[in-house]
Order: sequence, then structure tokens, then C-alpha cells
Amino acid sequence: MTTDTRPLGQRLKEDNWDLHQLAEHDALPQHMVRGTMPREAYVELCGQSWLVARALDSAIEAKRDEVPILRELVTDRQLQTPYLEEDLAHWGVDPASVAPNPGTAALIAEIERCRDNAPIRLFGLHYVREGANNGNRFIARKIKQAWGAESDDGFRHLDPYGDEQRPLWEAFKVRLNEIELSEAEKTAIVDAARSMFEGMIKMHKDFDLPPLEAAPAR
Ligand code: HEM
Repeated sequence: MTTDTRPLGQRLKEDNWDLHQLAEHDALPQHMVRGTMPREAYVELCGQSWLVARALDSAIEAKRDEVPILRELVTDRQLQTPYLEEDLAHWGVDPASVAPNPGTAALIAEIERCRDNAPIRLFGLHYVREGANNGNRFIARKIKQAWGAESDDGFRHLDPYGDEQRPLWEAFKVRLNEIELSEAEKTAIVDAARSMFEGMIKMHKDFDLPPLEAAPAR
């Protein structure tokens, strides 16, 4: 077997970029970024994202002690449940009333499988939602502009770090290359990241929003 000598951060970015392109250009993120997302769909998305965040945060908390990369890289500030609860409260939604759509239920099942069978994979799942903050910060600006919203209320989970976003992401990417991992662990993390992208794409497709014309390539 040949060893992949690329640092983990590079592998995560390069080996997932095909799925990033699919995720970014799918209907739901495009409606968000172009400001055409219906408000009810956005609020529903907050509920579905809350279910996923709750499952992933509690799995990470349960496995932090036994998985060094979770312990050393995933700070409490990166756990998204509290941001989504603030957003749901702003939109007047009781989290107890939120039921999972099929894609959301499948993603939660994947999180639980990783927790029970291969907790190192939880880091790959987490990397995707943490990385998604890069685009979400931009999306938050666009939706707020389109809806004439002046505060961050209701949009907190899209932009949890504000102006600290870039430096925090860069530090996270540096640090993840420093943790000692076996080849098998690195491969498991990259594979889990792919499953998170696929799971989020399915969760977004449950919304059945009309497709938009392709945006110019970035
Ligand atoms: C309109 C939608 C989106 C836009 C405009 C967008 C934009 C971006 C940008 C600008 C970056 C930083 C790239 C860099 O530093 O080189 C990024 C990174 C990333 N995005 Fe997105 N994105 C979008 C949707 C998504 C979605 C839906 C997901 C997850 C399902 C996602 C996951 C990620 C990840 C994991 C990274 C980190 C890549 C890395 O440096 O390792 N993005 N995105």
C-alpha cells in the first residue's frame, strides 16, 4: 500500500472539493446566497440543522476523552447547538416541535454509527460543518441584506465567530496537521468528511426548492 504523504488538511480540502462544488451549487445554498430563500424554508433549515448539531455535539462530547483530535481541536465554541437554539428562539420555534426530514434522519444515523463504531470519524464530520462557516459567513451577509435585517438575531449559527472567522479557521487547519494520526485514521477522517458532505446535500434536497440558473464559476 502506498502512503499518502499530503498533510491531512490538504487531503481534506482536495479530496472533498468535488463534493464542495456540488454542495455549493445545489438549490438550497444558492437560494440562500442569492437572497431568494423563502423565510419558512430558512426557519425549517434552522430546525433541521439543530437536530444534526445536537446529535454531533453530543457524540463529540461523549467521545472527547478517548479521541485526542476531538479533545485537542474541538472547542466548546465550535459546538453549534447553542447558536441554533438562539436562532430558533428568535424565529419563535420550540425545538421540541422539530421533527427530522428523511435526509436529516439519515445524517443523524450516520453520526450515531460513527460514535458507536469508529469515533475518529466524528472529526471528519465536524470538519465539514466547521469549514462550512467560511461560506456561511458570506451567506449570512447576503440573506440579511435581502431581508433588510439589521442585527445578527436569527442568523447566529451562520456566522458564529464574526471577524475572527478567518484566523480561527486558519489556526484550526494548522493544528489539525500537527496531531499524530495513523494512515488508517487519516483515511477514515477524509472518508467521513465525504459522508458529511453527502449527508448535508441530501438534507438540503429534502427542501425541494426550484433550481436556479448556474452562477458564474468562482
Ligand atoms: C453558497 C454556498 C457556499 C459558498 C459560497 C462557499 C464558499 C466557501 C469558501 C469561500 C471557502 C473557503 C475556501 C478557501 O479558504 O480556500 C469554503 C470552504 C469550505 N466550505 Fe464552503 N461554501 C458554500 C457551501 C458549503 C456547503 C453547503 C458546505 C458543506 C456541506 C461547505 C463546506 C466547506 C468546507 C468544509 C470548507 C473548508 C475547505 C478547506 O479549506 O478545507 N461549503 N467555502
